[in-house]
Amino acid sequence: PIDPNFEQNREKVDEENGVAVWGPVDPPEEQGIHGTHVAVDYDICIADGACLEDCPVDVFTWVDTPDHPTSELKVEPTHEDQCIDCMLCVDVCPVDAIDVDPG
Ligand code: SF4
Ligand code: F3S
Repeated sequence: PIDPNFEQNREKVDEENGVAVWGPVDPPEEQGIHGTHVAVDYDICIADGACLEDCPVDVFTWVDTPDHPTSELKVEPTHEDQCIDCMLCVDVCPVDAIDVDPG
């Protein structure tokens, strides 16, 4: 599962579409955690899509991650600022790739 303490344990190494990227990153195999309030561990995500389908405020968008070992699509929390902390995405992800911090 995603490390809920990633902000302490990782460094912010980049930003994509306004979304923070927490390393280490070494593409294509290692893509890091994307997002802060709503965080997706790209190295765990298998592109199940339940999070994107269930989110009531459309926080997520698909992005391509060619040649990543677990899946070649990931969900970016592009609109994480709209999150209402319902926790549906956390509950439905089959591989626990998402952390939402209501703080
Ligand atoms: Fe969307 Fe709810 Fe997940 Fe926030 S917690 S990203 S509102 S499904
Ligand atoms: Fe990925 Fe889990 Fe969503 S596998 S697409 S973060 S439901």
